[in-house]
Amino acid sequence: MNISRLVYVSTAHPDLMLTDIDAIVDTARARNEAEDITGLLIFNGFNFMQLLEGPPDSVERVFGSICKDTRHSGVVRVLSGSAGERVFGGWAMAYARTASGDGAGAFALTTDSLKAHLPENLSPELHMLFVSFNTMSSFQMAPPAGEDIQPAQ
Ligand SMILES: Cc1cc2nc3c(=O)[nH]c(=O)nc-3n(C[C@H](O)[C@H](O)[C@H](O)COP(=O)(O)O)c2cc1C
Repeated sequence: MNISRLVYVSTAHPDLMLTDIDAIVDTARARNEAEDITGLLIFNGFNFMQLLEGPPDSVERVFGSICKDTRHSGVVRVLSGSAGERVFGGWAMAYARTASGDGAGAFALTTDSLKAHLPENLSPELHMLFVSFNTMSSFQMAPPAGEDIQPAQ
């Protein structure tokens, strides 16, 4: 199957609460399953970075909805194109954020936990992109210490 991959960054609406983002992820996962989309969403306290992969029409359709969503702004497509294979297969939308907890199966965004969760077959370029996005957040908001890390589904 022809799979395309898209990565974008955006800025969260200042009034957005972590519980709002958990709700976004819950509904996103349902639609992503229906659209055969998998990927990863990272929230560093201020910005989102999301990777979507799936059939090209589905990726563009869902990204079209995401671009119109007023819960964030300044959506910039960082990369998009055809991908050989899925790297996030099985994850309707993995979700990582700065504050850990039960919300939507998120895992805490420490550099170590992010590295531990990124798939092994992720390209070195994408690996570096996600880890550097994560590192940027460390001077904005300290991650909670000593929390259990739950793998995202
Ligand atoms: C940061 C962010 C990430 C999102 N990720 C997804 C996603 O992966 N899949 C999805 O279907 N919707 C996602 N959404 C929600 C969509 O923007 C949109 O509300 C939803 O798909 C319903 O689309 P519709 O209003 O055109 O029916 C996301 C929204 C935000 C703000």
